[in-house]
Amino acid sequence: MTIIAPSLLAADTFKLEQQINEVESAGISRLHLDIMDGHYVPNINFGDKFVKEVRAHTKAELDIHLLTETPEKYVDQMIDAGGDIINFHPETTRQPVALINHIHARGKKVGIALDPGLSYRTYLPLLDFVDQVLVMTVSPGFGGQKFIPEMLHKIHDINTMKNTNMSGFDIEVDGGIDDVTGAQCTEVGATALVSGSFIFKDDIKKAINSLK
Ligand code: DX5
Ligand code: ZN
Repeated sequence: MTIIAPSLLAADTFKLEQQINEVESAGISRLHLDIMDGHYVPNINFGDKFVKEVRAHTKAELDIHLLTETPEKYVDQMIDAGGDIINFHPETTRQPVALINHIHARGKKVGIALDPGLSYRTYLPLLDFVDQVLVMTVSPGFGGQKFIPEMLHKIHDINTMKNTNMSGFDIEVDGGIDDVTGAQCTEVGATALVSGSFIFKDDIKKAINSLK
């Protein structure tokens, strides 16, 4: 079954409790939270206080996406705040394996996030260590962008490599995911779909059902 992870970047902050209840009653068990530092991406959004507050309101798995430089600065605070999966962009740290080991030692899952311009082959050695590969299907930083169709080849190649090696990691896609692009991604091997503006723009339940 494909995992659907609503991205809270697109939620209405003033209706957050209601919207989290709504996605949960539509069967959602994973929420995606983007942490932006204004350096790796030009944007700033929420921090660990917000993650902690979301944690207090839901039992869903919290999928933390660090869009930051020096992710090692944020990992512990995100785990302390209640993060379950910590995704980081591997080019932002000098010692990705040490960071992966640290997150695992704290009992949490790890994902590596790949910018559209980066090949998974560059990070092939990391794939033996992670629980998830987060394939960015837009340039990171903002919600509401258009899906980059060339990423379908990349998802397909990662899935082929995964099946050849009988690896168990999830392939999560993030950016511009709606009912059409989501189906294209799952066809080539995506196992988890992050979706922000498509889910929160109008009828939440209807959007989640059409993604399913
Ligand atoms: C983009 C973020 C995404 C974003 C997706 O940098 O990583 O998680 O919230 O939003 P949509 O689904 O609107 O493209
Ligand atoms: Zn994200």
